Amino acid sequence: MRPATAAAWETLNRAAEAVRSSHLRDMFAADPQRFAHLSVGWNDWLLDYSKQRVTTASMELLHGLWQTADVPGWIARMRAGEAINHSEGRAALHIALRHPANKGAILLAGHDVMPAVHGELDKMQRFAAQVHGRHWRGATGEPISDIVNIGIGGSDLGPRMATQALSAFRHAELRVHYVANLDGADLATVLAALQPRTTLFIIASKTFTTQETMQNAASARNWLVQGLGEAAVARHFVAVSTNLAEVARFGIDPANAFAFWDWVGGRYSLWSTIGLPLVLAVGFENFRLLLAGAHAMDEHFFSAPIAENLPGVLALLEVWNTNFLGAGTRALLPYSQSLALLPRYLQQLEMESNGKQVDRQGVPLACATSPILWGEAGTNGQHAFYQLIHQGRRLVPCEFIVCKNPDFALPGHHEKLLANCFAQSEALMRGRTLAETSAELAASGMPSDQVASLAPYRSFPGNQPSTTLLLPRLDPFNLGALLALYEHKVFVESVIWDINPFDQWGVEYGKQLASRLLPVIEGKTAADGLDSSTTGLIAASRGR
Ligand code: F6P
Repeated sequence: MRPATAAAWETLNRAAEAVRSSHLRDMFAADPQRFAHLSVGWNDWLLDYSKQRVTTASMELLHGLWQTADVPGWIARMRAGEAINHSEGRAALHIALRHPANKGAILLAGHDVMPAVHGELDKMQRFAAQVHGRHWRGATGEPISDIVNIGIGGSDLGPRMATQALSAFRHAELRVHYVANLDGADLATVLAALQPRTTLFIIASKTFTTQETMQNAASARNWLVQGLGEAAVARHFVAVSTNLAEVARFGIDPANAFAFWDWVGGRYSLWSTIGLPLVLAVGFENFRLLLAGAHAMDEHFFSAPIAENLPGVLALLEVWNTNFLGAGTRALLPYSQSLALLPRYLQQLEMESNGKQVDRQGVPLACATSPILWGEAGTNGQHAFYQLIHQGRRLVPCEFIVCKNPDFALPGHHEKLLANCFAQSEALMRGRTLAETSAELAASGMPSDQVASLAPYRSFPGNQPSTTLLLPRLDPFNLGALLALYEHKVFVESVIWDINPFDQWGVEYGKQLASRLLPVIEGKTAADGLDSSTTGLIAASRGR
């Protein structure tokens, strides 16, 4: 941690002492304007963080971190295409992917990247018109009815999540499927319902070397060749990658390869040609609106003062809960079935970006960083894990996301969804004391001896912090802005923690050991030098 930040840390620690011994109920009682003081709007969005365990004074101290850590300076470095992903020697210019053509150049080492970005967008638009217009024909001359995207991590999670999030905008006939897992069940269950002659595969991989994706691609290729012959591959496979040489080696026509670049991180790549399955699922115009929403959030992030800066406020609250209130987790609770995959997408974005052990100088970190992010769509989660959040004696900051207007308007549903969402954050904030519970049970006519024995089980400590983000509706523009909001939140946190959010060396070691174990499991080499557990597991797995 940089010295300036460390000094601010001490002041914040002292401020946290006071908050740690306070209850949210008392904070609301002490400031009738608390909601107005601790909420912020953008366009027709509302971010209500008044149920977070902060005061206006502690927020002002947190705002100070924005300057102390030099967030504006790091934003400038990112926008200037500097190699801020220093351990890989790369820039992080995902903002260029949604930068409008008429808004000028974005330079990388003196070279404007925008012509190439818009060239690939145009290529996606033409391809989608071919497929949607039934002009793209398979080897037997039939149009395509099913798209199968084969990819994993950032080559899967973003498009898969967005395809579900924009279910209300789906193309009427074309079906889009996603396969990611190395477990054969993933590919086999998808292919079981499809015909080779009407299926088109997208092999999505930044490196075009990822074991899971290449195994699934090979098996999909075999399935197609068995059905239609080797010559059919050209009509039923396209690729998305930065590694066009490997794409050609796989046997995919370079004309059917969609490029992106090494200055696009995998978990930041939805906006690139990795978004091709989403373009096919909802149409290019809706994809363009997604980009426009993300760009609008970029502009907000670059220009809004910290007190009104949505990504900045979310980042500062994360730092406060993690580093000063001692939270180790955050529950992401979208009250929207269409956003059910958002927690899974944000797990990669947040935990693969900020789950780090050393700072930008390679020095072991003295503070915690990314929380363990998890969650589930509401109201489903209420019937799964809310018991722990309400009475489990752990600090679990919650983030509720809900829309004013439903994406699927069935009479009587949306009002109940809103009531549940708002009630949960109220219950978590205020709790219900033993005295209040006893009075309620007594008023219901329960005998006093039962009241005395049951009240402890039915009381609630409250004081569980939460934020509620209220969107106007779930459409491409607002989804794009929402995802960009979290990208920039993660970036601000990384600046404050002084870490590189754009590399992911932590995923390499497991892959390396798996490559060493594979020939042992295949019985090709002896299990020498392995620990007794790994040796025992391999031996036991042979007894199939
Ligand atoms: O999880 C590690 C990782 O490198 C991610 O960062 C990336 O999104 C994923 O694997 C897939 O990588 P690729 O797109 O190169 O197949």
